[in-house]
Amino acid sequence: MSEPRRAKRIAIVTPGGDAPGQNAAIRAVVRMAADRGWESLGVRYGYAGLVAGDFVQLGIRDVGGIIQRGGTILGSRRWTEFSSPATQLMAANRLVERGVDALVVIGGNGSQAGARALSQLDVAVVGVASTIDNDLAGSDITIGVDTALNVALEAIDRIKVTASSHQRAFLVEVMGRSCGYLALMAGIAGGAEWIVLPGERTDPELVARELLSAYERGKAHAIVVVAEGADYNTDTLKQYFAKHRERLGFELRDIRLGHVQRGGSPGAFDRLLATRLGAGAVDQLAHGNSGVLVGMRGGVITATPLSAIVGSEKPLDPGLTALARILAK
Ligand code: F6P
Repeated sequence: MSEPRRAKRIAIVTPGGDAPGQNAAIRAVVRMAADRGWESLGVRYGYAGLVAGDFVQLGIRDVGGIIQRGGTILGSRRWTEFSSPATQLMAANRLVERGVDALVVIGGNGSQAGARALSQLDVAVVGVASTIDNDLAGSDITIGVDTALNVALEAIDRIKVTASSHQRAFLVEVMGRSCGYLALMAGIAGGAEWIVLPGERTDPELVARELLSAYERGKAHAIVVVAEGADYNTDTLKQYFAKHRERLGFELRDIRLGHVQRGGSPGAFDRLLATRLGAGAVDQLAHGNSGVLVGMRGGVITATPLSAIVGSEKPLDPGLTALARILAK
């Protein structure tokens, strides 16, 4: 007599920087999988946990009450060792040992590079686009961006209030690695007087003139939003303004938002995006597809081959950078 066919078993991993909404994605994957009669395992602490065989069972109740929680219930770990083919092979073997039929990788560029490597080892993998940086090709917007942006905006709005009371100038540094998306959007939506983006030449004298002219035009505050990956970064700008303080007549105080931006409870947009992408990942697996990243393009859930994503750039919209300059007046 032949053995009864066992249910499909999938595993979920969140290997990179956490992003608000990842728990909503985990919940959607687990419940959509359960709806198909599949079993789900969670991998704790990213690819390091995968190699160590650190799995937990995830049933539909295990993912209850997490949609509103920031971070990832599975935990994460930055782990450069995963770029080694030997380590990737160990991970693939762990999945076979645990009888895992497919892996869902929720994360950004580093995570999806790992996903691609696993798919090249014949592991069935589907990626879910998630990073606050929005620097992942294959999705117009990624899980966590909207919440991180709103955290930055709240900070900018608050800083503006105190800056206006004292007629001060502030520099607000936002995260985003080498991508300026968060800085650009926070600068536009927060009404910054200047935005410093990665890959752009920044003339500090021009920034100073712009801020002075903002005061002359009657503004009570001056806000410069700086992307953490900008070539002329927070430190260099601050030093320049400190050195020329007497001549310029004002100083530039700095605030680095850093991980504050990453830790928020996901807003409605991220919960819904994560839910749709998580469900989309299960749909892809149900259709027998793998080696793809599930993202959203033009408002539609899409699947793009990981081979077309890994190593690809996602440039900023030049129209928006031009708009930011005009609106800063
Ligand atoms: O990729 C997300 C991100 O928050 C970047 O914006 C930032 O540069 C980086 O992660 C910080 O990494 P870590 O949390 O490992 O310090």
